[in-house]
Amino acid sequence: MSKESANKMWGGRFTSSPSEIMEEINASVAYDKRLAPQDIAGSIAHARMLGEQGIISKADVKSIIKGLEGIRAEVTEDRFEWSTALEDVHMNVESRLRETIGEPAGRLHTARSRNDQVATDFRLYIRDTIDGFLATLGELQLELARKAEANAATVMPGFTHLQPAQPVTFGHHLLAYVEMLARDRSRFQDARKRLNECPLGAAALAGTSFPIDRKATAAALDFDRPTANSLDSVSDRDFVLETLSAASLCAMHLSRFAEEIVIWSTPQFGFIRLSDAWTTGSSIMPQKRNPDAAELVRARVGRVAGAFTSLLLVMKGLPLAYSKDMQEDKEVTFDALDSFATALSAMAGMVKDLEPNKERMHAAAGAGFSTATDLADWLVRELGLPFRDAHHVTGTIVAEAERRNVNLEELDLEDLQKVEPRITKAVFSVLSVDKSVASRTSHGGTAPQNVRKMARQWIKRLEKEGLAG
Ligand code: ARG
Repeated sequence: MSKESANKMWGGRFTSSPSEIMEEINASVAYDKRLAPQDIAGSIAHARMLGEQGIISKADVKSIIKGLEGIRAEVTEDRFEWSTALEDVHMNVESRLRETIGEPAGRLHTARSRNDQVATDFRLYIRDTIDGFLATLGELQLELARKAEANAATVMPGFTHLQPAQPVTFGHHLLAYVEMLARDRSRFQDARKRLNECPLGAAALAGTSFPIDRKATAAALDFDRPTANSLDSVSDRDFVLETLSAASLCAMHLSRFAEEIVIWSTPQFGFIRLSDAWTTGSSIMPQKRNPDAAELVRARVGRVAGAFTSLLLVMKGLPLAYSKDMQEDKEVTFDALDSFATALSAMAGMVKDLEPNKERMHAAAGAGFSTATDLADWLVRELGLPFRDAHHVTGTIVAEAERRNVNLEELDLEDLQKVEPRITKAVFSVLSVDKSVASRTSHGGTAPQNVRKMARQWIKRLEKEGLAG
């Protein structure tokens, strides 16, 4: 049935509204226009290769490239007029090319489809985005390592169950995040390695009968090699999912640190002071300093992990090769990766500015009998008690200190000897928080000498990288 006769049958009600909604659901240009730089780079590489292979004339190549460069300028200078009727970035660019150079524009799409085109554009975009993340993550690690070096001997309570557990140093705590971020970076680097293959030339799904040179386009776009299977090339979005997955883990780490910043900056804890740059006031309560930036960083993991889930479900059950479902990959990804990038930068800024309140931290480190384990260890080491017995003796001593409302180091020797007569005054040498952290010299332990060494190693490594990058 022709369109006209169909319209004659139901056209009275449906002439305009269904097509408007069709345009609305179908068009992606509102968000995929940000792929214009990648789209143009891909087209230039493709056109050059077509010329080299004698598939189109050198004169056409020249005019296509000149036209595309003009369009690139229009886009960068925000002069390009995007049309929703033209659906997506690819057709907008191509149609503009036809307007500006005429007939040769029609030859650009030889041996290519929007399916391999969009797969190429998106890989290029994700690759650039990962490179940006790697740089910012390096900066954040460097801020953390510098702050860690400055606070290698700043004692604070270490927590388990958010209950005071054993004293640690603030530097040690910060270096824990440097380690997490190092794993995050290696996940991004790993994703980048796998994504760096070029789908261009897979065409719609089956490859092409034109004598194209896929190695040449791959090399021109800085890919390691062309992808191996044309069906896989146009239907694969693993590279986006891997990136969102790495970003989700990293955003989760940022969220944990953000939560600690929120807790530490409360007047009740008072461990840190955030600078004015990263706090806001309240319109009604004049005394307030709200850690909004940290709260937003804490929340962002929701968007990032949400995008991962969203795309995973879009891809689930899709038959090979391309389906329009896959157009839904971009909007959530852009939103997630944009907000992740902002969270990373905000975190780097907060870390640089935050100042620890060393006195508060030190006092809190001594509360809650945090050196009880040091006492038990002393009983094992000096008196030869089995650890379980030492644990029991220490428990009895803690109960006594609690009853009197004093710290362990404030108890008298006689009180200790009532529980275990062989205890000598030498025990007091391990009961202070500073002695406690200084004694934790085991590999990876919190002793200031360890922390200083690790912090310096990181700083050296990261500064070198920064210079190289
Ligand atoms: N805008 C489309 C997308 O992002 C481009 C590919 C369209 N291909 C097609 N056969 N309709 O997925």
